Amino acid sequence: MPVYYSEETRLFEIRTDRTSYVFGVNGKGTVQHVYWGERVEAAECIDMLKGRSHSSFDADVDRETEEFGGWGGSHYAEPGLKVEFGDGVRDLKLDYEGYEIAGENELTVKLADRHYAFRVDMHYKVYPEHDIIERYVRVRNDEALPVRIEQAMAAVWSVQGLPDYRMTHVSGRWAGEYQLRRTVLSEGKKVIESRRGFTGPHANPWFAIDDGKSGETHGRVWFGALGWSGNWKIVAEKSTFGHLRIVGGINDFDGAFALAPGASYTSPVFTGGFADGGFGAMSRQLHAYERAHVLPARQLRKVLYNSWEATEFDVQADEQIKLARRAAALGVERFVVDDGWFGARNNDRAGLGDWQVNPAKFPNGLQALIDEVKGLGMEFGLWVEPESVNPDSDLYRAHPEWIYRFPTREGTQLRNQHLLNLGLPEVKEFVLGFMTELLAKHDISFIKWDMNRTVTEPGSAPEGLPVWQKHVEHVYEIWAELRARFPHVEFETCAGGGARIDLGMLRFADQAWVSDNTDARDRLAIQEGFAYAYSPSVMMCWVTESPNGFNGRSLPLSYRFHSSMMGGLGIGANISKWSDAEMAEAREFVALYKEIRGTVQEGELYRLEPLGRSNLAAYQYVGKDGAESVAFVFLQSQHFGSAERRLRLQGLDAEATYAVSQDGGEAVVRHGATLMGAGFPLTLRGDYGSTLLRLTRL
Ligand code: GLA
Repeated sequence: MPVYYSEETRLFEIRTDRTSYVFGVNGKGTVQHVYWGERVEAAECIDMLKGRSHSSFDADVDRETEEFGGWGGSHYAEPGLKVEFGDGVRDLKLDYEGYEIAGENELTVKLADRHYAFRVDMHYKVYPEHDIIERYVRVRNDEALPVRIEQAMAAVWSVQGLPDYRMTHVSGRWAGEYQLRRTVLSEGKKVIESRRGFTGPHANPWFAIDDGKSGETHGRVWFGALGWSGNWKIVAEKSTFGHLRIVGGINDFDGAFALAPGASYTSPVFTGGFADGGFGAMSRQLHAYERAHVLPARQLRKVLYNSWEATEFDVQADEQIKLARRAAALGVERFVVDDGWFGARNNDRAGLGDWQVNPAKFPNGLQALIDEVKGLGMEFGLWVEPESVNPDSDLYRAHPEWIYRFPTREGTQLRNQHLLNLGLPEVKEFVLGFMTELLAKHDISFIKWDMNRTVTEPGSAPEGLPVWQKHVEHVYEIWAELRARFPHVEFETCAGGGARIDLGMLRFADQAWVSDNTDARDRLAIQEGFAYAYSPSVMMCWVTESPNGFNGRSLPLSYRFHSSMMGGLGIGANISKWSDAEMAEAREFVALYKEIRGTVQEGELYRLEPLGRSNLAAYQYVGKDGAESVAFVFLQSQHFGSAERRLRLQGLDAEATYAVSQDGGEAVVRHGATLMGAGFPLTLRGDYGSTLLRLTRL
C-alpha cells in the first residue's frame, strides 16, 4: 500500500518505490505540505509540520506551504483556489475534514470551508514504480447561492530547502517548438502559461526544478506536467522565506465562472514526480508512466508517408497514386493524404469546413485511392482540421454564427481562417457528424487532426464553464467518442506543428506531430526538448527534402534518417523525384528502422551528449529487457582534423558482453563496463556526419 495515514502524528505519507511525499494536518486544522523527495521516515518529519512565524509582521509563514490553499486570511501566495460566495464574502477558510483511501493507490483528502457548505477534495493517485503522483481537485458547492470561481488550480507542489531553485521548461514558436530553457528563480513568480486557447508552441505545461547543479546523470529533480490542452498556467513562486510553490491548472485569465448550487467542478490532472538520477532519470520516469498510464492502448508506430511537403494543396489522385507506389517500394506502412483533398481547398484561403471529397481531384472518389493504397499493402490516413473554417467556404456561408466572435467585432483571421465555437452543442454535433460519416464511408485507419490557429475574440459559451474550457472539453469528448466508434483508427494530434501536445491530449492521441520544421538538424533540438517531457514513442519525425524548403540547409540522407529514426519514422519528401540510389538507401533505412523501432519506442532514452555541450549530439535507447540498444550520434562540424571520438554509453549491464556494430559494419564484442567507462571509438567524417551504433547483448 503506497498511502499511509497516522492518527497519532496526523501525517499522510505517499510512498513510491524510491520517494516519500509527506503532508499533514497542523494544529490550526490546515493541511500542510511537509516533505517530498527520497524515502524518509515520515513520522520523523513531524517537526516540519509545526507553524512557522517570523515576526508579528510575518505571523503565518506556514501558510505558504499549504498543500493546496485558497485565498483568504493571511494566505498571500499564489492560491489553489479563489472564490466569491453568494453573499459577497471572498475569504476562503479550508479546514481538514477527513480522508478516504480507495483501492490500492488512491487517496482523497477532504477540505471544507469553516462556514459555507463548500468542499474541496484533493485527489492523489500513486504510481509507485514511476515515483509519480497524479493530483487533481474536485470543488463542490452545496450552498443555496452560486459561488463565483475566480481561480481553481489542479494542484500545488512544494519544493523546500534548496539553496537555489532552477526551473527547466520549454519555449518556442511555430517551427521552433520545445526549446529547452533553464533559469534560476529569484523571489517572486515565474509564470509559464497559454492564453491562446490551446496548449501553445510558445510554452508547454511541463516543468522541472533542481538546485542548479543537477545534470543528466546525477542530482535531485522535481518535475510535473499538466494534462490540459487549452488555457493553462503554471506558476513557480519563490517566497522570501525560501519556499517554492508550483501551482498549476486551467488559466484563471478570463476564466471565472459560477458554480451553481449542488454543482461540482473537477480540475484537470497535474502529474508530479521526483527523480534522484538527474534529468535523464526524470525523462525516463515520465516516458514509462506515459506509455503505461496515459497513452491509449497501443502498438508500435507505423512508418508513414505524408504527401504534404511534396504536393501541398495540389492533391491529385493520380499523383498520389504515384507517390503511394514509391512509398510502398520503400517499405512504408501507412500512406497519409494531408490538407487539400476536400472542398475548394486549393490554397489556405478557401474550403476549410467543407469536408466533402473534391471530385475534380478525386474523379473516382477517395475510396478508389484508398483501394490502391491498400492494394500496395499500406494503410490509408487522412488530414482534417475540424475546428476551423475559411470565410470562403460553404460552411461559413451557411453558419456565420458558428465562429468565435464578439457581436461588435469582426473577428481576427489567422491563416485566413476562423475558429468554430466548439462549445456550441450544434457545432460539436457537426464535427462529430462529418467525422463519423468520413470514417464510416471510407477505409481510413489514421487521422491527423490539425488545429492551425489560436483562439481570438472568444465570445461566450451558452452556459456554465467559460468558453475556453468548453472548447477543450468538447475536443476531448469528440476524440473519445470517435475512438469508441472507430476503435481501429489511430489519431495524431497536430496544431500548426506541435502546439497541442500535453498529458491531456495524449490520453486520446496515439502520436503527435512535433513541429512543421522538418530540417533534421533543427529537429534534433526540437526533439531533444520534446523528449525531456514526452515519450519518443509518440514523437513523429519525417525525412524531407535537402536542401530543406524551410531553411535551405542541405543534409545527407543518412543524417535525415538518423534524426527521424529517434521517434516514429515518417517520410515527407517528394519521393517521385528521388534517384534510384536515394530510393535504395532509403529502403535500407526503413528496413533498419523496423528492426530497431521497438527499442526506440518502448526503450529508455539516455541523452549521452545533449545538444550544445560539444559539437556532438548523441542519444541512446536501451530496449525493454536490456537485450538491444541503439545509439544515434550526430556531428555538427569538423574542426582541425579529428581526434578520435569515444562515445561512453549508458544503461548497459556492466558484466554483460555486447556485440557492437557501427552502421551495419562488422561487430566487435565489448563488456558493458568498457562501453560505459572507456566508451566506443567512433568514425565520423565531414560536416553533419551521423552514425548509428547497434548493441546486442550476448
Ligand atoms: C499544419 C500542419 C502541417 C500541414 C499543414 C496543412 O501546418 O502542421 O503538417 O498539415 O497544416 O495545411
